[in-house]
Amino acid sequence: MIVAPDAKGVHFTTDDPGEMVETGLTELPIGGRFRAVDHAAMVVESAAEVDRMIQALVDRGGQLVEGPYLFPDDVCDTEVPADLKKVMGTVALATGLLVVSAPASPGDQLGRHLATWGSAVPHHVALYVDDVTAAAPAWAAAGYRVGPITDDGTLGQVFMASPEGQIVELISRRSPTHDTWSCANVAALSAAENALRGVEAGA
Ligand SMILES: [Fe+2]
Repeated sequence: MIVAPDAKGVHFTTDDPGEMVETGLTELPIGGRFRAVDHAAMVVESAAEVDRMIQALVDRGGQLVEGPYLFPDDVCDTEVPADLKKVMGTVALATGLLVVSAPASPGDQLGRHLATWGSAVPHHVALYVDDVTAAAPAWAAAGYRVGPITDDGTLGQVFMASPEGQIVELISRRSPTHDTWSCANVAALSAAENALRGVEAGA
């Protein structure tokens, strides 16, 4: 369902919700190694399109595990700049979680992703590792820029960027949740994305 045909970016191979549910997320070859995908995040144009895509996935057998809602506002006390807010919901596929997200306001962080990369390129792909801190240096050695590691005690996460700007996340889980963001991690993780992509912090 997602492939990395070259070093420049990761791509969804289909936009058919039925095929997405059936095939799920598979191991992804990056840097000559197959990595286990925990989740991928796609970006669509609007909150209405998030609703439509999630309903299509659920109608075809996907399991809704989160949202859709405005994150973090609807579920956290956490305050983040408007630039970093996102409309999102998460569906469990045959293998892995698919986050369907959309910009919360025009020109915000997810809006820039859409404008620059288009909807066929995941906002990011998250690869499961047992220990984020231990795993990150190998990516730095491979040319990825590595953001700050965040760990709320349950989720360990770090955003990294390929030389071309594709975001790859490393994630570790100490309990079997479906969370892909957390109230404690979202501010640092989203701010890291702007830094990795060379964007000044938004308003
Ligand atoms: Fe993620």
